[in-house]
Amino acid sequence: MRILVVGGAGYVGSTTVERLVADGHDVTVYDDLSSGHRASVVEGAALVIGDIADQGHLERVLTDGGIDSVLHCAAKSLVGESMVEPGLYYRNNVAGGVALLEAMRAAGVNRIVFSSTAAVYGEPRRVPIAEADRTEPINPYGATKLAFEGAMRWFCAAHGFRAISLRYFNVAGATERNGEDHDPETHLIPLVLRVAAGEASHVQIFGQDYPTPDGTCIRDYLHVTDMAEAHLLGLEATGEGDPSLEVYNLGSAAGFSVREVIEAVRKVTGRAVPARAVKRRMGDPPVLVASSRRARRELGWQPHHSKLEEMVADAWAWKLEHPQGYATGPRPGAKAAIDAPDRVAAGAGG
Ligand code: UFG
Repeated sequence: MRILVVGGAGYVGSTTVERLVADGHDVTVYDDLSSGHRASVVEGAALVIGDIADQGHLERVLTDGGIDSVLHCAAKSLVGESMVEPGLYYRNNVAGGVALLEAMRAAGVNRIVFSSTAAVYGEPRRVPIAEADRTEPINPYGATKLAFEGAMRWFCAAHGFRAISLRYFNVAGATERNGEDHDPETHLIPLVLRVAAGEASHVQIFGQDYPTPDGTCIRDYLHVTDMAEAHLLGLEATGEGDPSLEVYNLGSAAGFSVREVIEAVRKVTGRAVPARAVKRRMGDPPVLVASSRRARRELGWQPHHSKLEEMVADAWAWKLEHPQGYATGPRPGAKAAIDAPDRVAAGAGG
């Protein structure tokens, strides 16, 4: 396939690009590098720096590159930010997304896989969540992803698009080459690894009075290479069939609690990880776990690397190899900080 990966310099995008190139596909990355990293784009893929809202530019890139399918991973994706800047999310995730669809239509490209989110479901009525369950997002992030799915659905009906939307929650782990480097970092596993590395004194546990076995929130974590595989299978599946939008949840159907994640980091790193329970974070449902039965059955997808310790071990290995993330030059004080945690007793939280 000749694939345009919009947002291909981000965490999930770059790892998927790595996989697509390894499998012999012709890949062009289109990214504004607002949160992605130039260095994450593997050799063998072309990089075009551009704005998702620039329909004319996208159309030229699609046409000049002889692109036959698009992978869209370019959304703004911070729940908290979306609550205070909804306009940014509607502009980027909805208006920008529609510019991409219009460019595809003009260039005669009708295959698209969208990296969506299980945040479209809002507070689930039951877990594991299935694709047909009610979608009632509780933040602009989830609302804008759902709105874009709606646009794709109508482009399928009106313009013969074949589209797949992959809805998932928490991505973790790394390849040898690419890993997670967000600024600001809000995700649990990288934050806990920072504590293990001595870059922060302790991790905060957002609430320990949830109706779960250990009182902390349960989330569905998937290895980023399993995500890459799902995106590849999705792209292949858009090659045939009637025009339609097909939605697939991706999940492990088990989930891990915040305390289990912290424990796994202690075990894998052998470092102390002091933890303190603080009050709940707004908008966090107790349990978010998706059923991926449909993806397993219809796409033949199977997560192979999503055991908690493997994800933590891979993320830790990447962090040790890339202490400054993708940035060059030493991070001030990092060495001294990394030596520090042995002096700190393991925190039991609370
Ligand atoms: N958490 C802590 N301490 C922290 C950070 C997180 O206790 O310092 C907890 C959160 O409260 C939550 C869990 O760890 O219970 C995971 O939090 P993350 O921020 O890592 O991830 P979320 O589950 O909030 O977010 C994920 C995806 C989003 C998606 C969202 C849907 O990363 O893209 O699920 O709700 F939108």
